[in-house]
Amino acid sequence: MTKKIPHRLYLTEDQMPTQWYNLRADMNEKPDPMLNPATGKPVIPEDLYPVFCKKLAHQELDDTTRYIDIPEEILEMYKNYRPSPLCRAYNLEKALETPAKIYYKFEGNNTSGSHKLNSAIAQAYYAKEQGLTGLTTETGAGQWGTALAESCCYFGIPLTVYMVKASYEQKPFRKSIMETFGATVIASPSNTTEAGRKILASNPNTSGSLGCAISEAVEKAVTTEGYKYVLGSVLNQVLLHQSIVGLESEKAMEMLGEYPDVVIGCAGGGSNLGGLIAPFMRDKITGKANPRLIAVEPASCPSLTRGKYVYDYCDTGRITPMAKMYTLGCTFAPSPIHAGGLRYHGMAPILSKLYHEGYMEAVSVEQTKVFEAATFFAKYESILPAPESAHAIRTAIDEALKCKETGEEKTILFGLTGTGFFDMTAYSSFHEGTMIDHIPTDEELQKGFDGLPKIPGIQE
Ligand SMILES: Cc1ncc(COP(=O)(O)O)c(C=O)c1O
Repeated sequence: MTKKIPHRLYLTEDQMPTQWYNLRADMNEKPDPMLNPATGKPVIPEDLYPVFCKKLAHQELDDTTRYIDIPEEILEMYKNYRPSPLCRAYNLEKALETPAKIYYKFEGNNTSGSHKLNSAIAQAYYAKEQGLTGLTTETGAGQWGTALAESCCYFGIPLTVYMVKASYEQKPFRKSIMETFGATVIASPSNTTEAGRKILASNPNTSGSLGCAISEAVEKAVTTEGYKYVLGSVLNQVLLHQSIVGLESEKAMEMLGEYPDVVIGCAGGGSNLGGLIAPFMRDKITGKANPRLIAVEPASCPSLTRGKYVYDYCDTGRITPMAKMYTLGCTFAPSPIHAGGLRYHGMAPILSKLYHEGYMEAVSVEQTKVFEAATFFAKYESILPAPESAHAIRTAIDEALKCKETGEEKTILFGLTGTGFFDMTAYSSFHEGTMIDHIPTDEELQKGFDGLPKIPGIQE
């Protein structure tokens, strides 16, 4: 008798991984080093100490340690919502009439509503351990800010969040949750920082971007005694913490006797995707298996599919180190699409490198198509997805429909990163038919490329 695969597979607490996996250790070529903007030289941990916690600075630059123990206090808080379920999308498969088997790893089952808590807990823990008196951060969609507010509340650390103005206006209740956990929330760009004032002076009507909000949060951290800055995506350390998503998925699939042919994730700064694909990318690099790994980004902010692989600043105000990544230029201001968490000009250096070397694919999708998929998925799987996550759903559905045409029984795994309860304005505009797609022209993109940094001897 063949084993019946459950709709939801929950690992037990003692099956939860106790180490994060550092994919860089298995990469044949490491991501290019971050550069110190003052010297143009690769950063060393001491360069990062003014901005980041020490332990996190070391994790950021560690290209060699394959597995890193998750501290006990972090595991304890993880257990409030982990292990997260691996779900079999039986109803979706039936509705699509596809022979494909569709699985998704659901990370929305916590108050913050997304995978972001996996790194927020880690970063707040290390801040506490170092005795910091406060943290600052930025948030796009609001999920990261909420996750960090929850984590800072747990570890007793004050938090200031710069929230991208477009999201601040679209999602006032996100702000209320962050405030419930004790955080201070400021719409960005704001006049509370030099970086914000500069951005407002040159573009008073801007709806903001993650790049602007990062500049403000970093400035606030370095000018406030005892404070440091934390970032919810892009960085190597964040992908490291998110590897728990991939490790749990791998273990659960193994228990079911499954292995994915295709792994799909939405990509804003790359943290959920980097975490989800980590063990499968390891298998691909080491030749153990050959799954397709697909990044899905919005057509309005297409850093992988239309960006350049160059050194760029991680923020609009040009105060962070420079990273080699696929980027649209740190001054690129994406249109205010509803998936606020995908409005970032660059992509994680680890993923950028792997994409550049051909290990990963990327596609871009328009938001009306994304909401069509989100609505379809909600109807059949009874989960209201976040718009960001729905980018992965779109591509998973497209892959399943290709299987319908070819008759192939592929196993598809995608990351369902979060829920969309605070995105109802976006859902309404989709239902009312007022949602529009904005695809930047080559001329619009060129403006962002014109602002790329020149680094003598490296990037002229
Ligand atoms: C639900 C959700 N999914 C995905 C993302 C994209 O971020 P990343 O690419 O770092 O996973 C965000 C970012 O805010 C998010 O809130």
